[in-house]
Amino acid sequence: MEMKDLLRTADLSRDDVELLLTTAADFAKDPLRARTALANRTVAIYMTKPSTRTRLASETAVAHLGGTPIFIRGDDLQLGRGETISDTAKIISGFASALIVRTYAQSDVDELGSAGSIPVINALTDDDHPTQMLADWLTIRENFGKDIEGRKFTYLGDGNNMSHAWLIMGAIMGAHIVTGTPEGRWAPDPKVVAQAQAIAAQTGAKIEILHDAAQAARGASVLYTDVWMSMGDPESERGEKMRVLAPFSVSEELMALTEQDSIFMHCLPAHRGEEVSAEIIDSSRSVVWREAFHRRTTIQSLLFHLTRGEIQGRQ
Ligand code: CP
Ligand code: NVA
Repeated sequence: MEMKDLLRTADLSRDDVELLLTTAADFAKDPLRARTALANRTVAIYMTKPSTRTRLASETAVAHLGGTPIFIRGDDLQLGRGETISDTAKIISGFASALIVRTYAQSDVDELGSAGSIPVINALTDDDHPTQMLADWLTIRENFGKDIEGRKFTYLGDGNNMSHAWLIMGAIMGAHIVTGTPEGRWAPDPKVVAQAQAIAAQTGAKIEILHDAAQAARGASVLYTDVWMSMGDPESERGEKMRVLAPFSVSEELMALTEQDSIFMHCLPAHRGEEVSAEIIDSSRSVVWREAFHRRTTIQSLLFHLTRGEIQGRQ
């Protein structure tokens, strides 16, 4: 049976990812190759957190498919005045062909998905960022091809939504995935690690959770990082977080430990001098601009296939 929504990275099968990346690569070459796929249809984009890339990518993707995006800012809806998520989902389903949503609680996105009759796409929650993962894996594929045997894919930094998505998508793709984070409070959620390990047992992926940045970086083909303060993180934790995460900052020293052909990745926005040095993010090793461009190609692919009922999901 086809999958209606993309609520979590873990919803996707390897076959789904392959289909989505193949179509996305086609959209990268020719953005208008399916210019009538959403003709005379609308896609609602509802965001209660800020966004530069995901909003632009989503609106552009809908336009390239011939549809009309309707952007709804967090406090625009009656949700803030007590209308239920379920009622909101039913109303949006009556006007739009899909809903792209960015918010805090994963459970809110799940509820929109179960109450709505249209595809609901998670465009970032506190727990996950599945559309980012599609752009990241298209970028990885462009650089290294399909054969990733012997390659190591390392995330350095906070054990947040991005680190979780990185673990799960790497497990789905059968990759050798490493996270290098501090121990304790800012390590990845053990439940997500267990889920990644369960998927890895089926796909042949290898999952390593390390707390030493140099060990995590050594021999890697990718060093990936993310902001240390995510949207919604308490400001009161900033000082402690900066101190504990400092050894995981992607520097020339850490990059020197990686493979000859390694690349630097970042979902952006970036804070030069915190999670990455300006020398690295602005170097020839950095693929962040191509990665950001693929936000549009992959969301376009996702909208195309989800609205046609062509995504099966992980059984
Ligand atoms: N990477 C990403 O999701 O960027 P935005 O927050 O700008 O959408
Ligand atoms: N971890 C970051 C990702 C931004 C794309 C956040 O949630 O703010």
